[in-house]
Amino acid sequence: MGKSSDVQGLKDIFKGDFLIGVAMKTGFVMEGMPEVQPILEQHFNSLSPENGLKWVKVHPEQDRYDFEFGDKYVAMGEKLGAFTIGHCLVWHQQVPDWVFRDEAGEFLNKEALIERMEEHIEMVVGRYKGKIKGWDVVNEVFDDDGTWRKSSWYKIAGSDFIKAAFRKAHEIDPEAELYYNDYNVFLPTKRRAILDFLKEMKSEGIRIDGIGMQGHYLIDSPSIDKIEQGILDVNEAGFSVMFTELDVDVLPRPRQSEGADLNMNFSNSAKWDPYVDGLTSETEMKLALRYASLFSLFKKHRDKISRVTFWGINDGNTWLNNFPVKGRTNYPLLFDRDFKIKQEVFNEIKKASASE
Ligand code: GLA
Repeated sequence: MGKSSDVQGLKDIFKGDFLIGVAMKTGFVMEGMPEVQPILEQHFNSLSPENGLKWVKVHPEQDRYDFEFGDKYVAMGEKLGAFTIGHCLVWHQQVPDWVFRDEAGEFLNKEALIERMEEHIEMVVGRYKGKIKGWDVVNEVFDDDGTWRKSSWYKIAGSDFIKAAFRKAHEIDPEAELYYNDYNVFLPTKRRAILDFLKEMKSEGIRIDGIGMQGHYLIDSPSIDKIEQGILDVNEAGFSVMFTELDVDVLPRPRQSEGADLNMNFSNSAKWDPYVDGLTSETEMKLALRYASLFSLFKKHRDKISRVTFWGINDGNTWLNNFPVKGRTNYPLLFDRDFKIKQEVFNEIKKASASE
C-alpha cells in the first residue's frame, strides 16, 4: 500500500459520474484535525454538516442564532472547492421545544409556527446564500408505512409546513438546489407516499431538485434490488437521486431496522458488541464486498445519481458507535480509527467503478 497521497482519490475515480461527499463532525470543523484535511483534499468534492447546522445548534434560542460553526464550515468548503450542502432546515429531531410554543408555553397555532419556520429559513439560508449549494430543506416527515410522521410540526401545521419551507428556501436563495431527505426510501410504500407528495409539490410550481436516500445500511440488507428500485422510481418521478448519509453497520441489530429511528435504544452487552478488539478479516471482507455492490449499483445508475455522501470520515467518530446500542465499537466507514483508509474496501470500490 502506497502513502495515501499516492493513490487516486474517490472523487477522481467517480469523476463525471457523481460527487463524492462526506459529513463533517462539528469538532473537525471547529478545532481542525490534522488528519482530516489531506483526506478531504484527496477524496471528497462535497461536504455535509453532520450536526452543526441543525436547528438546535444554529438557532438554540428564539432570539439567538449561532453561526460560528456554519461560517467555518462554509469557509472550509470554499477552500476545498467543494459542493457544500446545508443539512437540515426542518426536522422533528434536534429542534428545541421553544420552536413550537408561545411565551406562555402553549403550542403555537399553524400560522405562527410556519412564520417562525420561515424566519429561521430566511436567516440561515440567507446567511449562506450562494455558498451553500444545496439544502436538505425537510428531513423525515413520513413514517415507514407511508403515513405522515406525527411530529409537533405535523400536529400543529399538517403537511402545509413542508411546501412553505421549500417556497421560502427558494425565495431566499433562488440558485440553491433543494432536497427532501429520508431513510428507508427503499421501502415501496414509504417511497410511494414521498413521491406522490413531492410530485404534487412540483406540479404546483414549487422547486425541488432531488431526493436524498440516506443510505444507513446494514451489511446484508436491504438488498441491492430494493435499493435499485428506489433509484429507478425516484428518477422516474423526475427527481435526481442522492445517497446522502451512506454508512454500513457491521454489528448485529437487536431487531431488524435498517433506518435511523433514533428512538431505538438497547442496553449494551458482549453479544451486541463482538468486535471490540478489531474486525475479523472475514467481516472486513464482507464490508468491502457490500460497499462494492453498492458502488457497482451507483455506477450503473450514474446518469440518475448526482451525489454519494459518506456519513462521516472514520470509524472512531461515527454515530453508529452509539446507535441503536450505546458505546459499541463499529466499523461502518472508509477510514479506520487511525484515519487510515481501509485498503480492502477502497480496492473493492475502485473495482466497482470499472463495472458497467
Ligand atoms: C438522520 C439525520 C442525520 C443524522 C442521522 C443519525 O439520518 O438526517 O442528520 O442525525 O439521523 O446520525
